[in-house]
Amino acid sequence: MTVTIRKLHQDENAQTFAEYINEIIAENAFIHLDTPVSADDEKAWLQKIFYDSQHGNAGLFIAEENGKPIGISHWEKGDQRESGNVIVGITIAQHHRGHGLGRELFNACIQDAQRHKPKNIWLKVVAGNTPAIRLYESLGFKRVAVLPKWYAYPDGVKDVDIMVLSQ
Ligand SMILES: CC(C)(COP(=O)(O)OP(=O)(O)OC[C@H]1O[C@@H](n2cnc3c(N)ncnc32)[C@H](O)[C@@H]1OP(=O)(O)O)[C@@H](O)C(=O)NCCC(=O)NCCS
Repeated sequence: MTVTIRKLHQDENAQTFAEYINEIIAENAFIHLDTPVSADDEKAWLQKIFYDSQHGNAGLFIAEENGKPIGISHWEKGDQRESGNVIVGITIAQHHRGHGLGRELFNACIQDAQRHKPKNIWLKVVAGNTPAIRLYESLGFKRVAVLPKWYAYPDGVKDVDIMVLSQ
């Protein structure tokens, strides 16, 4: 199967995005979402990100196979006093992990964010999410703070690390 990496279009099939993210939510992955999203929720979010991307305030990259997302990475500029910083995030579908796709997709996203000259690129990652932390560290992200007992999971509350890539 051919996997392509592309930018967000204006008229995405929100249903396929909702199905994608709901599978990741269902595995209780290390992301902040814990409740399934509807296609309408996803459509509204994609439209907002598309609008923001047209104004240099966001970017979203999709790894796609057979017309369906298998990975998403996005960045968003902060506002007001945080407008010099961008937050980034990434997910890859479970069956596609460990083959280099996350690194390729995340690099595309980071490079796009860097074109807008942010002061810092930052993210939140659950302490113990080794694959993600290794990926971020390999790109130069440094852990600068810990939010103790921050994300609630069925088996307890986990710390969240703040990592920053200074520019
Ligand atoms: C984190 C995630 C995006 C990585 O995507 P991936 O496609 O599996 O990653 P890659 O195969 O490109 O590997 C990139 C790097 O991640 C690290 N990595 C990936 N899988 C790993 C594993 N099982 N154990 C340790 N490190 C791992 C390695 O440093 C790897 O680089 P290397 O292969 O050059 O050593 C993916 O695991 C994922 O979506 N996880 C669930 C959602 C999530 O946790 N998102 C991040 C929220 S902060």
